[in-house]
Amino acid sequence: MVTHALGRYPVYIEPGVLGRLESLSEEHLGRGHITMIADGAVHDLLQAGRLARPRWEGDAVTFPAGEGSKNRKEWARITDLLLERGVGRDGGIIALGGGVAGDLAGFVAATYLRGIPFIQVPTSLLAMVDASVGGKTGVDTRHGKNLVGAFHHPAAVVADPRVLLTLPERDYRGGLAEAVKHGLIADAEYFGWMEREAGALLRRDTEALTHLARRSVEIKAEVVSADERETGRRAILNAGHTVAHALEQATAFELSHGEAVSLGLVAECALAEAMGVAAAGTRGRVSSLLERFGLPVRLAKRVEEAALLSAMARDKKNRRARIRFALPSAIGCMSAEAGWTHAAEEVAIRSALATIS
Ligand SMILES: NC(=O)c1ccc[n+]([C@@H]2O[C@H](COP(=O)([O-])OP(=O)(O)OC[C@H]3O[C@@H](n4cnc5c(N)ncnc54)[C@H](O)[C@@H]3O)[C@@H](O)[C@H]2O)c1
Ligand SMILES: [Zn+2]
Repeated sequence: MVTHALGRYPVYIEPGVLGRLESLSEEHLGRGHITMIADGAVHDLLQAGRLARPRWEGDAVTFPAGEGSKNRKEWARITDLLLERGVGRDGGIIALGGGVAGDLAGFVAATYLRGIPFIQVPTSLLAMVDASVGGKTGVDTRHGKNLVGAFHHPAAVVADPRVLLTLPERDYRGGLAEAVKHGLIADAEYFGWMEREAGALLRRDTEALTHLARRSVEIKAEVVSADERETGRRAILNAGHTVAHALEQATAFELSHGEAVSLGLVAECALAEAMGVAAAGTRGRVSSLLERFGLPVRLAKRVEEAALLSAMARDKKNRRARIRFALPSAIGCMSAEAGWTHAAEEVAIRSALATIS
């Protein structure tokens, strides 16, 4: 099945679709020099026949797995390799791996000879439901994450839910946190489906995962296409993330992104209820579903409130020195008041943080 994201490029989400990578690559990238740029660990699984398809026989470049590779040094090394191999304007790139592969290989594709086409092959749940759609590519610098990059849409996204069977548990659960966010911001029915199918999702049942990936991609694509350059409603994708980013910074990234998002969703729902924006009971349902998915809803260790507040004060949504949040009004619905973000008083933020401490 093709989920048409943005009406521009196809998103194939289908068990077994990875087996058709060669023909999809020819269809969307053409017959020029195709290079797979892959996360080294995922590439090893692929070549060992553990990713639900035969090994990749074409050209490939790998990078060490992990966020540490998402930098300009790797971007330059990979770009130079393509130049040495004489890849021309008719070349194309296949990005294989999690969000790091998509962002890094996507940025190589965005800049190589001023831009060549690429296909996203997301293999982590986070990449499947979030990072592979939206057209953001880029790398980290020592000044912070994702500070250098470009908008470059893929020619296609090829997502095979079966590849998720080898994903480490912590990464898998982290991806579920983003799916919970999608239900909360846009679709009460989808949220209810996750509540009912939590068992199947935890078992990584293929059918359940296919539905999850499709629905999440549809939601992200719909929000992004309505607001590509992030001026208004796209802020709702930031639900839970104002607190999450502060938690990641204050714990020096000891919490994974998904764990931070889980805690952030709970705290921001509490804030929304306390400010009278969200219906009572919103936080309770969100928190129960996250817990069911094995995600944290309370901090295991004490985190300095002051450190969290100062990290939030640097958030790019802020206006006139007030910390702003994208807040839900109910499950499946975000508050559109004040241009999709609400300024909150420090005392309200402190008591919301108390609910996760
Ligand atoms: N561009 C965007 O819109 C966007 C959105 C969200 C996140 N991101 C970025 O995505 C990155 C995080 O993505 P991530 O969580 O996928 O991290 P990741 O790419 O590092 O993957 C997580 C881990 O899972 C492993 N892995 C991936 N697929 C696997 C599989 N099928 N089997 C076994 N192991 C597998 C990887 O080797 C890695 O160790 C961050 O850099 C973040 O900034 C980008
Ligand atoms: Zn996120």
